Amino acid sequence: MLFDTHTHLNDPDLWSQVDSLLLAAQEAGVTRMVVPGYDRESSIRAMQLAEQIEFIYAAVGFHPHDAKDVTDRDLADLALWCQHEKVVAVGEIGLDYHYDNSPRDVQQAVFKEQISIAKTANLPIVIHDREAHADVITVLQETHAKQIGGIMHCYSASVEMMPQFLDLGFYISLAGPVTFKNGKRPIQVALQVPADRLLIETDAPFLTPEPFRGKQNQPAYVLHVAQKIADLRGISIEEIEKMTYTNAVRAFHLEA
Ligand code: NI
Repeated sequence: MLFDTHTHLNDPDLWSQVDSLLLAAQEAGVTRMVVPGYDRESSIRAMQLAEQIEFIYAAVGFHPHDAKDVTDRDLADLALWCQHEKVVAVGEIGLDYHYDNSPRDVQQAVFKEQISIAKTANLPIVIHDREAHADVITVLQETHAKQIGGIMHCYSASVEMMPQFLDLGFYISLAGPVTFKNGKRPIQVALQVPADRLLIETDAPFLTPEPFRGKQNQPAYVLHVAQKIADLRGISIEEIEKMTYTNAVRAFHLEA
């Protein structure tokens, strides 16, 4: 049993292929997945998918790319979406200093607002952190995000920084880059992350794992992320599946 904790079936590129992608996922043993939103439309699509398909759960939120366009009405609606019975997290939210599509102070303000909404709803948060590790930690500390915890989606900080995220109650989610030949950082993380804090994801349609790198990613490929981590840790794929599945159920407050 595999749990893809971050997959964008709400992405326009995957939206039209959902039926075949879900079939392929089930054949690969993926029995649950979380579809995170990144703006209004994708958050609504995530909730629609979760309403239609029993083993899909939704996360809702506004990506740092779009922080400059987020309105008070968006944040009020986010608070309402959090009441949806299949919404299990607020995300993906965070900071992206690679693209800097929105000014950094605006990204931080919108990030904090969304953490506050998640705290009110008592939902964990799904964090997008690109080249902003130190500021993400500062925001998580200042907002007392430890009260709700969450997931570091496609963790890309160093193994040295990992204890700070663990101390804040966060799970470390690994994606396709752990399978890449040049994936030195995620490989170190895969070796050292505590067994009770590891999650796996695809981030489909992005970050396709080997041996499919270069093609469109899909939830079924989370198997290849799991297999690589099993190989690295020298344990069976069954053990990785059980460990990451149990962790995901706990991280998103689901019933086993
Ligand atoms: Ni994502």
